[in-house]
Amino acid sequence: MTLPAVGLLGVGKFLPPKVVANDDFVAMGLDTSDAWITERTGIKERRIADADMATSDLAFEAAKAALAHAGKTAQDIDLIVVATSTPDHPLFPSVACQLQDRLGARSVGAFDVSAACSGFNFALSVGTQAIQTGNANTVLVVSADCLSRFLNWKDRGTCILFGDGAGAVVLGKVQAGYGILATELRSEGQYGSILNVPAGGSKKRLPDQEDESFIYMDGKAVFKVAVHTVVDTVHSILKTAGLSPDQIQLLVPHQANVRIIEKIRETLHLSPEQVMVNIAQYGNTSASSIPIALTEAVEANRIQDGDLVLTIGFGAGFTCAASIIRWGGFL
Ligand code: ACO
Repeated sequence: MTLPAVGLLGVGKFLPPKVVANDDFVAMGLDTSDAWITERTGIKERRIADADMATSDLAFEAAKAALAHAGKTAQDIDLIVVATSTPDHPLFPSVACQLQDRLGARSVGAFDVSAACSGFNFALSVGTQAIQTGNANTVLVVSADCLSRFLNWKDRGTCILFGDGAGAVVLGKVQAGYGILATELRSEGQYGSILNVPAGGSKKRLPDQEDESFIYMDGKAVFKVAVHTVVDTVHSILKTAGLSPDQIQLLVPHQANVRIIEKIRETLHLSPEQVMVNIAQYGNTSASSIPIALTEAVEANRIQDGDLVLTIGFGAGFTCAASIIRWGGFL
């Protein structure tokens, strides 16, 4: 049985307006510098959501932008999948349900996916399969994270890395040969301890463990695992799709550290023009970084009809997930 081709009909993003530049950390009294952060991470500034703005607010704006770009309305949506690690509420309701209500969508299925910074590709895979199996025609996939709420602003090893933001895509059927050609999802739970939030879940409840409610990260260990897992996953998904790296027009990697992106680029022998990098402006926006970068690549005309786009995310869990998309082919 030939499965229908599923592609991205529209993309959208939302970044909160407040900009925090590297020098602002120095002004806050943190022992760091613009030079260190720029050299070690590539980040110059990031957006931080004000106190009255939560993950669902970011998700709502990105979703509206993606629907408008796709020429769809909320009434067209058959399923909503949100990738987030920072929902408005610790248990429920999900951000996806909040979104369904705020968008005025029909009473369709709506749920969150938790796969940290890899969340976008996990959600994309779920949405694609819903269309391929005939359960939906139009799926809204949103990535939204507000990691700033979980940062220890005195820990210079983590607080300088992250930013808030959201990105969204609308999935639907496209011409045969276009759309999402392959996805690959991976998890390596043995690395859970190098990047986590120790307390606040069912294992250690707050407030007794208040000081463990921030992000903990062994940055060096994460760096090493990220590079080898990403490179391995990219080679594997290319093999599955019967493609070689030189056939990819644009790599859209998770934006965690420009040095990690550079290592991936070198390993795959890609030119700088073949890699989308916008980490300088936004830092690491977790699950949102890929759809935000994808949206900016479309806005900048860096993706043409028929181009092969490879998205690759990695993050806490440890998780890693990739997709290969042949752009366009709209019906
Ligand atoms: N400013 C100045 N100095 C700093 C800062 C800072 N902001 N942060 C750390 N340092 C210091 C350290 O204290 C250390 O000092 P010491 O030598 O006196 O002990 C020195 O700089 C070197 O520290 P390292 O941790 O070894 O620095 P490294 O080069 O590894 O860079 C970084 C740290 C940027 C965190 C890097 O390891 C990294 O990017 N790792 C990957 C992180 C990542 O990708 N995380 C996201 C995963 S996605 C998700 O799921 C959330």
